[in-house]
Amino acid sequence: MFISIQNVCFSYPNTGKPALDQFSMNIEKGEVISILGRSGSGKSTILRLLAGLEKPTEGSLTIQDEVLFDGNTFLQPEKRGIGMVFQDYALFPHMTVGENILFGLFQLKKSDKKKRLQEVLELVELQDYEKRYPHQLSGGQQQRVAIARAIAPNPHLILLDEPFSNLDAELQVKIRKDLREILKKANITSIFVTHDENDAHALADRIVKLKDGCIDLIGRPCDLIGIHPHPVPQVTPMIEERELMSV
Ligand SMILES: Nc1ncnc2c1ncn2[C@@H]1O[C@H](COP(=O)(O)OP(=O)(O)OP(=O)(O)O)[C@@H](O)[C@H]1O
Ligand SMILES: [Mg+2]
Repeated sequence: MFISIQNVCFSYPNTGKPALDQFSMNIEKGEVISILGRSGSGKSTILRLLAGLEKPTEGSLTIQDEVLFDGNTFLQPEKRGIGMVFQDYALFPHMTVGENILFGLFQLKKSDKKKRLQEVLELVELQDYEKRYPHQLSGGQQQRVAIARAIAPNPHLILLDEPFSNLDAELQVKIRKDLREILKKANITSIFVTHDENDAHALADRIVKLKDGCIDLIGRPCDLIGIHPHPVPQVTPMIEERELMSV
């Protein structure tokens, strides 16, 4: 297996309840995983822990046999080979599309940088936009630049936090199809967070449902259709019972 996440626990300082409790799952190379859950269920927290922006109180993360964190190890975010796409895309406004994408490629030779830039621009179909600035792009195009920037250094994993929340409904449907194609074409392993069941079903190979910091369910979209995660409480048949008793 490509990625192993085991028993990750975390509490924010001065809070009584853990934000994440015993989060475990294995992920195959190239899989698209969706983390689905209500506001406050811990979705962004698991991404922050995987990216190294928070330190877990317990648990481990291994990618291709390299330990990123466990009881003894804590690799700094920049050493993890994990890309991140934030909700607001966080593009550098004073840099062109090309410069934004090149930002993460500082380790490459000049000729390799140029080649990689053209590859990812093609992947997200923005070949003609290299010289534009973020404010000269639509929301969907900005999102594709953010994805291109995250993918360019060939990360082991990319994390996307609510990638569709700034898009209108029509664009959202188109972009989620594009995003799946981009991720699959590049064979990039990814985890994206959403609170929208339709996004998760349209995009993911597997869905993880989070509730109050705990995994409620994991399954393929087709396995989860119609599943009620919690038993529906039985309504006590008061009237019938009383009637029976009076018989
Ligand atoms: N910096 C923080 N300090 C204290 N508690 C926090 C902090 N950030 C988040 N929390 C709490 O941790 C829990 C999980 O938060 P998280 O941001 O992971 O939720 P989420 O599922 O991403 O929600 P949303 O859909 O609203 O983005 C929540 O109860 C939240 O209040
Ligand atoms: Mg969040």
